[in-house]
Amino acid sequence: MNLSIRSNFTKGILSDAEIDAQIELGSQKKKLLHDKSGKGNDFLGWVDLPNQISENELKTLEETSKKIQSHSEFLVVVGIGGSYLGARAVLEAGGSSLDVYSKDKSTKIIYAGHHIDPDYHNELLNLLKDRDFSINVISKSGTTTEPALAFRSLLSLAEKKYGKANLKDRVFSTTDASRGALKKLSDEYGFQTFVIPDDVGGRYSVLTPVGLLPIAAGGKDIRKIVSGAKKMAENLKNTEGRDNLAICYAALRNALYKQGKKTEILVNYNPRLFFFMEWWKQLYGESEGKGGKGIFPAAVNFTTDLHSMGQYIQDGERMLFETLLNVKKPFQDMSVTEVSGDPDGLNYLAGKTLSYINSKAMEGTKLAHHGGGVATIELGLEDLSEETIGEMIYFFEYACGVSGYMLDVNPFDQPGVEDYKNNMFALLGKKGFEAKKAEVEKKLKEL
Ligand code: PA5
Repeated sequence: MNLSIRSNFTKGILSDAEIDAQIELGSQKKKLLHDKSGKGNDFLGWVDLPNQISENELKTLEETSKKIQSHSEFLVVVGIGGSYLGARAVLEAGGSSLDVYSKDKSTKIIYAGHHIDPDYHNELLNLLKDRDFSINVISKSGTTTEPALAFRSLLSLAEKKYGKANLKDRVFSTTDASRGALKKLSDEYGFQTFVIPDDVGGRYSVLTPVGLLPIAAGGKDIRKIVSGAKKMAENLKNTEGRDNLAICYAALRNALYKQGKKTEILVNYNPRLFFFMEWWKQLYGESEGKGGKGIFPAAVNFTTDLHSMGQYIQDGERMLFETLLNVKKPFQDMSVTEVSGDPDGLNYLAGKTLSYINSKAMEGTKLAHHGGGVATIELGLEDLSEETIGEMIYFFEYACGVSGYMLDVNPFDQPGVEDYKNNMFALLGKKGFEAKKAEVEKKLKEL
């Protein structure tokens, strides 16, 4: 496997007995994922997904992405939450950090529909009016406000620019097989449509066309991603207890949670992992934060945030622990050069690589934080290749299922996100929310 786990920096904070108890619990809960007898078991389609993706499906995704690449400078991925974070996480982890400035001819991916900010949408429409673009609109329900709003203006621009008859070559929708407004609209226009399986929830959908189409269009090898996920799926299915990476991770974080460490900070030393952490935050936050329970998922980018959040982590309230993503091999390393006269005092690093210096910053930080009472769970990643990313995606999904069951919540629903929507719909005067409008307005006045 390209992914490994170490718990050295939990020593002195967690005892073996505390870890063993959680390993035991995690092992029992793992079974629920396979015999499908736990809460939310109608949303376990992701468990077998890596083995179920067919050659035909992969081919269609590759062909569609080639078509997009052949005529589009930009692909606008329209979606929110689980409908866009996975693709963005993978593309940014494995792509160039400065892609957006590149003048090469490859298709660049831009994202829309994940907020309602008018300035962003104005800028986007302005940019696209003189450039060639395609749209991949992604919504499982087909009714989510943010992507539907963005898609409305993007579709209107595309229609003006290319003509209605040509939209079928430029607009691709990923949605439910038969239900929802997006499915209806897609059928009316004749868009090529990709299906999100009924039994796969948004945040577990990276390995469906939700993630795979934009990832392929962004130039990544989706076969390697699926192959990494497949390897991890086999491994996690066939290993038990401490030999099982996901049980170990779920056990360590739950043992720390039991000690009152209620915040988990995912840490990276590679800025390209920023959106991977956003994906992880959604996965764990939406899966576990229920019924007054759940570890709060936060994230920091080191060494950048050592100069902002480092003080709190070292010395603030002791309610947190870290999970470190330790990427061992960069895509391309570089060395520090010798400068005559040593004006900045850095010649002692001459000849050393930046990845070596980064690794020493990492070791120094782990030790300092451990000294401050902050445990670190360490996830070692050989590199950020497509295979490794495929492993990581499946690993985190699986561990999230195990961990959610350990907390005795349903890791596959998200009832809490409806409250803001209902208030917003009432305030905006949506049909069916008339009665709620007065109630919401009254409450807002009272507060
Ligand atoms: O994980 C989830 O289910 C959510 O984050 C959804 O993905 C998100 O709300 C978008 O929903 P939809 O795809 O229905 O537009």
